[in-house]
Amino acid sequence: AESQAFSLAVIPGDGIGPEVVAEGVKVLKAATANEDATFELTEYKLGAEHWLATGETLPEDTLDKLRGHDAILFGAVGAAPGDTRIPSGIIEREMLLKLRFSLDHFVNLRPSKLFPGVPSPLANPGEVDFVVVREGTEGPYVGNGGALRVGTRHEIATEVSVNTAHGVERVVRDAFRRASARRKKLTLVHKHNVLVHAGHLWRRQVEAVGREFPEVAVDYLHVDAATIFMVTDPARFDVIVTDNLFGDIITDLAAAITGGIGLAASGNINMDRTAPSMFEPVHGSAPDIAGQQKADPTAAILSVALLLEHLGLDAAAARVQDAVEKDIAGRGTEPRTTSDIGDAIASLLAVG
Ligand code: NAI
Ligand code: MG
Repeated sequence: AESQAFSLAVIPGDGIGPEVVAEGVKVLKAATANEDATFELTEYKLGAEHWLATGETLPEDTLDKLRGHDAILFGAVGAAPGDTRIPSGIIEREMLLKLRFSLDHFVNLRPSKLFPGVPSPLANPGEVDFVVVREGTEGPYVGNGGALRVGTRHEIATEVSVNTAHGVERVVRDAFRRASARRKKLTLVHKHNVLVHAGHLWRRQVEAVGREFPEVAVDYLHVDAATIFMVTDPARFDVIVTDNLFGDIITDLAAAITGGIGLAASGNINMDRTAPSMFEPVHGSAPDIAGQQKADPTAAILSVALLLEHLGLDAAAARVQDAVEKDIAGRGTEPRTTSDIGDAIASLLAVG
């Protein structure tokens, strides 16, 4: 086969971001050592520390350079919650959300699998293996709103949820494709009994696109009921498709029932491939454990598996997934550093 050269942007970010990204890169290299694929890495400094040092969140020229890469590996950004030097929301809105919107990351993909050997807070979780396809570019997160008479008794605040037929259709189609390649079950999660305008747009798009996928069984749950089933019967789910806000909330619950934040991976994906997709652990910068080699890099490493799959390197992606599962199954009670875990997973890849 012809050798493929990929150019990868790496944004380590703040706190444990650089620690877990280093292990992700280690595993990426081990997983592709025997493939006809090479990766050229370019590091970008962004995040809270960068803002403190320079006043920059995401400059336009940096965004332009990022567009030139095939994919982005992202760690985490953000300061400690009590750090008053950084205005709340500035890094989230002006950097993270700006990246997702500018690069049209309309599929926010979050797999939730309970790996053998991982304790779940649920007594009888069963076989948990589902993915949430969360819409990433619309909903209440677009900044369509405003405030009047702020600080007075007459303050008005609006935050309008934007849902377009185009935006909903494309994410629904992606969810159907994924369901078709998995256990052929799709659950729409919304609240169309109350949010009738947006809810019915979603419902109709699922009906229409569903006709192209007769092999996929379609189910619907209101978001409140979905939180119940995620705890009482999570094994019922295969692919969940939902809007930006509901997806944000239920994916944290999904991470909690499948062994926690140290294992939860995600992709911010532009399936039209008009801009690079970005892969990142779900967790934040964890200032409480930063710089101590205490972070679990597994979420970042599983994000690398999603990245490899997106680039068409399916065999390498599967090997990373297998190595992670083996490592998790063999975990004892001995404490391991962040780089111990990365080394262990990388060496499983070298053997396999
Ligand atoms: P967090 O996810 O950083 O930490 C929550 C708790 O989980 C902490 O106790 C932390 O030690 C633990 N934890 C997180 N990742 C871990 C890992 N890999 N291994 C072991 N333990 C881990 O969330 P928090 O504390 O709410 O936010 C800290 C900062 O991160 C804030 O500035 C927040 O805005 C930012 N943040 C950034 C995100 C991103 O970059 N996408 C996502 C979430 C939060
Ligand atoms: Mg969140």
